Amino acid sequence: MALITGAARGIGRATAAKFAANGWEVLGVDRLEVADLPDGVDFWRADISDREAIAALFDHLGQDRGRLDALVNNAGVVLTKSILETNESEWDRVHSTNLRAVFTVSQLAYPFLKAAKGAIVNLGSVHALATSPDIGAYAASKGGVLALTRAMALEFGGGGVRVNAVVPGAVDTEMLREGLSRGLQNAGSREDERRALGARIPLGRIGTPEEIASAILFLADGQLSSYITGQSLVVDGGALARLGTE
Ligand code: NAI
Repeated sequence: MALITGAARGIGRATAAKFAANGWEVLGVDRLEVADLPDGVDFWRADISDREAIAALFDHLGQDRGRLDALVNNAGVVLTKSILETNESEWDRVHSTNLRAVFTVSQLAYPFLKAAKGAIVNLGSVHALATSPDIGAYAASKGGVLALTRAMALEFGGGGVRVNAVVPGAVDTEMLREGLSRGLQNAGSREDERRALGARIPLGRIGTPEEIASAILFLADGQLSSYITGQSLVVDGGALARLGTE
């Protein structure tokens, strides 16, 4: 079974659908209610930044003698504010979901993953490697995710659990739309901004959630990626290949 956080929409939803289509049992977790889940996906409502809520989920799995082959730490939130304007509660809100919950959910999942010789896939971001102004709290949280990915790979490798990260560039989801709408007055200029962003990417377009889901599936599947651990796979249409000073 695969447990996928943030499965209500965006990359998490596409990942849940892709895993299910590839024959996996899937349990999606989100703090949002979902009306229409992809076929073959079960759902558990929880806020992953709440340790007790996640502990209740794993209690339920244990009582059910649940097997866990893959954990996808996908749920995330973005904050588009300058460092000087960001207050501590905003910083904590971003970090409690994007970084602390990756630690908590992975820690609680580990006994199950060890039993199944399973894998963890974390969602990083290109902002972990190169960033822009007004997204510092998010960039720092994603930098932490890549460091935590390496640390968990070392500590969990002895238990046969692989840990990797997928590092997306711009992907067409609500999160990207929210990011693009900052400072823009209307939907028309948002669409222009979206087009302009796509044109700056070497492949000439923004990525789709399904393209990220394929990379996640590769790193979760013990047959496809059995000797890969501690790595970060960039899936960004070539954006990071360009020297920013050119
Ligand atoms: P999204 O905003 O469309 O979906 C995120 C989902 O996570 C939502 O369903 C939301 O309810 C859920 N979620 C957020 N906080 C939660 C919490 N505390 N507990 C439970 N569920 C929670 O975002 P998107 O674009 O699908 O992003 C998925 C991951 O990919 C995130 O980690 C994001 O940082 C990362 N990413 C996205 C990029 C993009 O361009 N869309 C680029 C790089 C990374």
